[in-house]
Amino acid sequence: MSDTVPLSRRLFFALWPDDATREALAHATRKAVRASGGRPVPVENLHATLLFIGSVPAARTPELEVVAGSVPFAPFSLRFDALDHWQKAGVLCATASQTPPEALKLATALMSNSAKAGFAPDVKPFRAHVTVARKVVKPHALGAITPVDWFVGGFALVESQTLPEGSRYTVVRSW
Ligand code: 2AM
Repeated sequence: MSDTVPLSRRLFFALWPDDATREALAHATRKAVRASGGRPVPVENLHATLLFIGSVPAARTPELEVVAGSVPFAPFSLRFDALDHWQKAGVLCATASQTPPEALKLATALMSNSAKAGFAPDVKPFRAHVTVARKVVKPHALGAITPVDWFVGGFALVESQTLPEGSRYTVVRSW
């Protein structure tokens, strides 16, 4: 088999920002990221995970696309208005103090429908967040940030690849 055909893929569902939202998130968190002593997430990698699926046989990707097509989706807005440090994960993230019910419904339906389809997703309850730095031990400043309003008109299935230069995320398909 050719080296370019992967046997397995590491996949997750995410909210994928447009360029303006991505830049706004980066801008609102830049100083705190610099001061955190952590490893900044490259701007092009910023996203909000809806559900982490993990490593799956590449041939099962279409089954996840069926799952995505089966969940209810209604557009919503998310306001990222705070900076938090999740100690156990060692991440600095932008968080939303209000979670719209549509966002919760989407994440919950993805979780139950992917489990029903035989996948083993991460079962942590959904918390809207955008990781902006990793390996953060002692953050410098937390709390309110300039709010970033993100209009969410869809979601994506994303592949995560670990390369020598770091993680690369590629949108497989959007809905
Ligand atoms: P994050 O959303 O907190 O940044 C790809 O690895 C993405 O899935 C990352 O954004 C990562 O964390 C998220 N993720 C959620 N649960 C994960 C897990 N159990 N293992 C790896 N990544 C996970």
